[in-house]
Amino acid sequence: MTSKDDVLAALDKISGPDGVPLPASGKLSEIVAADGKIFFSITVDAGAVKLWEGVRERAEAAIRAVPGVNSVLVALTAERAGGASGAAAPRVQAQQRPQGAAPGAHGPAHGPAHGPPSPAGIPGVTSIIAVASGKGGVGKSTTAVNLALGLRDLGLKVGILDADIYGPSMPKLLAIREKPQTVGGTRLKPIERHGMSVMSIGFLIEEETPMIWRGPMVMSALTQMLREVEWGTLDVMVVDMPPGTGDAQLTMAQQVPLKGAVIVSTPQDLALIDARRGIAMFRRVNVPVLGIVENMSMFICPHCGTRSDIFGHGGARHEAERLGVPFLGEVPLDISIREKSDSGQPVVATAPDSAHAQVYRDIATRVRDGLLGAGRPAPKIVIEA
Ligand SMILES: Nc1ncnc2c1ncn2[C@@H]1O[C@H](COP(=O)(O)OP(=O)(O)O)[C@@H](O)[C@H]1O
Ligand SMILES: [Mg+2]
Repeated sequence: MTSKDDVLAALDKISGPDGVPLPASGKLSEIVAADGKIFFSITVDAGAVKLWEGVRERAEAAIRAVPGVNSVLVALTAERAGGASGAAAPRVQAQQRPQGAAPGAHGPAHGPAHGPPSPAGIPGVTSIIAVASGKGGVGKSTTAVNLALGLRDLGLKVGILDADIYGPSMPKLLAIREKPQTVGGTRLKPIERHGMSVMSIGFLIEEETPMIWRGPMVMSALTQMLREVEWGTLDVMVVDMPPGTGDAQLTMAQQVPLKGAVIVSTPQDLALIDARRGIAMFRRVNVPVLGIVENMSMFICPHCGTRSDIFGHGGARHEAERLGVPFLGEVPLDISIREKSDSGQPVVATAPDSAHAQVYRDIATRVRDGLLGAGRPAPKIVIEA
């Protein structure tokens, strides 16, 4: 297994135009090393990008030569003039963002014609919702896929955007091994699965030459997946967000024109603390929280049917009440959910008559109703700059 240190050792032999070895340059992002895939960015002045392109190529070549590495993506990240790339600086300024629009109720109306929404909507896509969690491993991606399938079962046209660029899950969860095709040279066609359109950086990152992702910024990967993919007409796009509530997540929450967020938590207190942070983050960028899903809620013994609340079932429901956000449902900890999820056969698609599938469909119904704004006052949407 290749480690970050292996990568840094390889990069030590590569210097920038100023002669400083890359690890000492202060220009490297965090290095992501997972399953032989290496991913990081080099942040340089916008004016110096040309000088750095060769460095980027040499860095990729050096890392490719490290044993155990099977794919490398080094992105050149240019600081935008005016410091607009600063993740902590709210980009949403004192203006309204379109809210509570019903899936299917609008056409591609949220375009530039409605003034400068920040961020801009995606033509053809009515509602974009985030599935988020304060930390990894709580079942965010599993929930995202099955929620998307549940929305599909409600008759909606659904897309899934895997925005977890550091740990994409959709290739595995949906057993997608093919590469997206390009249209007209640069735009990508999403992969169709179970009647849904799906895009993930995981579809591309194994390519030896992932041309399409050689953007000026890592964040541009997300922008490209949003805006340079032929999503067509979608009622709902479900975005599997990266875990956590740091600057990267905040930036994403700001860059994607979200109609709402679904927070996934396990019942443990620790996860709930993280869930609280997630809720606070979305509130900070004025994205309505559609509710909390309690995942791995209770364990039902497959042999005797006895139920045990290993993680202290009910914590998320209680927390949702306390925070004044809807509680969307509880998904049991069940080996069949895990097996199906991990073998690319999500339960709602492959066992639609199961009780688990029904749980997800009920969650999907509540999410749809939340998007319709049923029974909820219109959220306040004026934001302080
Ligand atoms: N309700 C559940 N019951 C059993 N296993 C689950 C459940 N939800 C998720 N898992 C399993 O837990 C692991 C982490 O889930 P995943 O969706 O990848 O989480 P995350 O996206 O939050 O990192 C996976 O192996 C998944 O199959
Ligand atoms: Mg995941």
